Amino acid sequence: MTEKSKILVVGGTGYIGKFIVKASAEAGHPTFVLVRESTVSHPEKSKLIDSFKSSGVTLLYGDLNDHESLVKAVKEVDVVISTLGGQQIDDQLKLITAIKEAGNIKRFLPSEFGLDVDHHNAVEPAASFLNKKVNIRRTIEAEGIPYTYVCSYAFSGYFLSTFGQQNVTAPPRDKVVILGNGNVNAIFVSEEDVGTYTIKAVDDPRTLNKTLYLRPPSNILSFNQLVSLWEEKIKTTLEKIYIPEDQLLKNIQESSFPTNFILALSHAMLVREVSTTNDPSSGVEGSEIYPEVKYTSVDNYLDAFV
Ligand SMILES: NC(=O)c1ccc[n+]([C@@H]2O[C@H](COP(=O)([O-])OP(=O)(O)OC[C@H]3O[C@@H](n4cnc5c(N)ncnc54)[C@H](OP(=O)(O)O)[C@@H]3O)[C@@H](O)[C@H]2O)c1
Repeated sequence: MTEKSKILVVGGTGYIGKFIVKASAEAGHPTFVLVRESTVSHPEKSKLIDSFKSSGVTLLYGDLNDHESLVKAVKEVDVVISTLGGQQIDDQLKLITAIKEAGNIKRFLPSEFGLDVDHHNAVEPAASFLNKKVNIRRTIEAEGIPYTYVCSYAFSGYFLSTFGQQNVTAPPRDKVVILGNGNVNAIFVSEEDVGTYTIKAVDDPRTLNKTLYLRPPSNILSFNQLVSLWEEKIKTTLEKIYIPEDQLLKNIQESSFPTNFILALSHAMLVREVSTTNDPSSGVEGSEIYPEVKYTSVDNYLDAFV
């Protein structure tokens, strides 16, 4: 058996990063996390860091703004996964510089984990945000760094826990706001599954210099289908308030950050159709190449909220 690659997660203490760290350690990869020293004493994050340590994860102290620390960390491993947050997308250029200097990286997965940014239909301010990820892709390619881009669409935990409704903490039980006509296909993937599929891809030649799309067939459904599924589960018919696309676009223009950003991303994910097919020369479908993964269906995911 070939040895499993050593993986460094940069941003492993973040929202999606912790799932990727967990999946990496569980899959038996020697797993390293770049951690800022100040984060170790953070009350909530210190618990997460302790859980990393007890899973055998190695902490490497460093910071995106400390070039030497990045090069040193990168030299320890074979694969780098960035799960840096939305505020740090451009800063990944610093990580790319370190990867180039270290010269040993077999695969780099930049912070993506959303829409296919090369084919988005987003309006501002989401468009500029997604275009930053495009810029990172083009830099990686220009530098000749081996890569995989993971497109995982909407995280179930983010979206299904509230159905994207404002100021709520659970799925709706009386009324629901539906953006657009609700007939456009959206894609939901649980955070655990994002971790599992991402880690499977790192040593896989089929995902080398490709996009890994995560579009599990049972999890492609329109908002109207999602609402019907939920209504069946809670045995209630919800009042439906539709926001037509032109009204939504007006709301985006008239609201300020972060509401305009959240609405524009929701518009791109729920109102503009996302493609569910891909060109095999540039991308592969995770649920096809890893049929052994028993992913969490939207149907099952919603059961936890009934
Ligand atoms: N598809 C979806 O539904 C969805 C939803 C959310 C996010 N995303 C995407 O997922 C990706 C990750 O986002 P996220 O929300 O998980 O990120 P996040 O929670 O904001 O985590 C950011 C991570 O970056 C680390 N970090 C920040 N500044 C750093 C620095 N100077 N040096 C080293 N580390 C630093 C943070 O460390 P500390 O712990 O030290 O602060 C943390 O680990 C993004 O590309 C985002 O667009 C997708």
